[in-house]
Amino acid sequence: MGFTPLGSARRAAEFTSREDGGATNPPRSRFIKFLAISAVLLVLTVACSQGDRSTWNPAGPVAGQQLQMFNVLVWIMVVTFVLVEGVLVYAAIRFRARPGQERPPQVHGNMPLEIAWTVIPTILIMALGIWSVIELWQLDKPPASADYVLEVTATGHQWWFEFEYADAGGGKTITTANELRVPVDTPVWVWLESDDVIHSFWIPRLAGKVDMIPTHRNRLWFQADSNEIETLPATFLGQCAEFCGLSHALMKFEVTVMEQDDYDAWVASYGQKPSLSAKGEQGQKVFNANCSSCHTTSGPDAAALVDGRVAGFLAGGNIAPAPNLTDLATRQKIAAGILDLNEDNLRDWLKNPNDIKPGNWMSARAPFYKDGENTLSDEDISAVIEYLISLK
Ligand code: CUA
Repeated sequence: MGFTPLGSARRAAEFTSREDGGATNPPRSRFIKFLAISAVLLVLTVACSQGDRSTWNPAGPVAGQQLQMFNVLVWIMVVTFVLVEGVLVYAAIRFRARPGQERPPQVHGNMPLEIAWTVIPTILIMALGIWSVIELWQLDKPPASADYVLEVTATGHQWWFEFEYADAGGGKTITTANELRVPVDTPVWVWLESDDVIHSFWIPRLAGKVDMIPTHRNRLWFQADSNEIETLPATFLGQCAEFCGLSHALMKFEVTVMEQDDYDAWVASYGQKPSLSAKGEQGQKVFNANCSSCHTTSGPDAAALVDGRVAGFLAGGNIAPAPNLTDLATRQKIAAGILDLNEDNLRDWLKNPNDIKPGNWMSARAPFYKDGENTLSDEDISAVIEYLISLK
């Protein structure tokens, strides 16, 4: 329907009639068709949801309790809504004005009714509020009965996640990125920090969402239960849930849940010197000359180096906090959960990262990407890829 100027009802009628194909297809039936198609599309869209990112399919106690809370709150609200709206609709139809009917008697207030519809919602909302807060307190800490809790610090960056294990097992320190490895049936305590803007940490099937705030430490815990998981290792997708800049939607990560033995093997192998081919050694040279002021490939960085990178970044230098690549080849994805880890994707990423993740700091700060031109030769890039896929 177009805009109808005042005082031209006849033309409007003609217009409507032409546009709608005459009386056989009045605007109202088109509106109903539109609603029906929208409803079908909505149902189809819901069906697109992948189980690995659905809060309806919890895989641990925290996500399970969050779903339970959601269900209780939603069903109480649904029943309340149906009751209240039902009475409203019934009253509107039953007592509607009829032709020739006299004006109904005018009443002003009804004390018992007024008290009822003030007291009942007050009690309901207070009860739900108090119950929710008690539930949240209970959710806040891992069970006291757990004899071991794995601690990890997760830091949000534009646009990737850093994971630091002060003690991943046997006193070993690990820093990695975009893939959080945890043993099954073990509570994991996650400290949440940010190096730049506010991000939010969310693993829909395990726990979340909690904000990652600069200069403030938040926390959450989660656990992946073996009786909720068919086969191990299992991957759970995580993502940033707070708008944090241009590539916010491309800020993802994976949680890999492993048997304790496999996890221990990963911890033991982390940081071992890779065995390099001649091409890999060439790649290491190219990497050290071009990439190593931001990326590390030999274990966790010293605190002073991390601080130096942040200071250099804030001062506008050719430097930025960047993912630690020590165990890159053990990961399933690159570019913060965006692409599968393989040589083709690594090549695409190294040639023009801005195509894949617009606005990323590597494109903006690394000297060889200046002015949108990648000055690394194809041969250099191939050698770097050879080096990177040997980092286990
Ligand atoms: Cu980080 Cu959105």
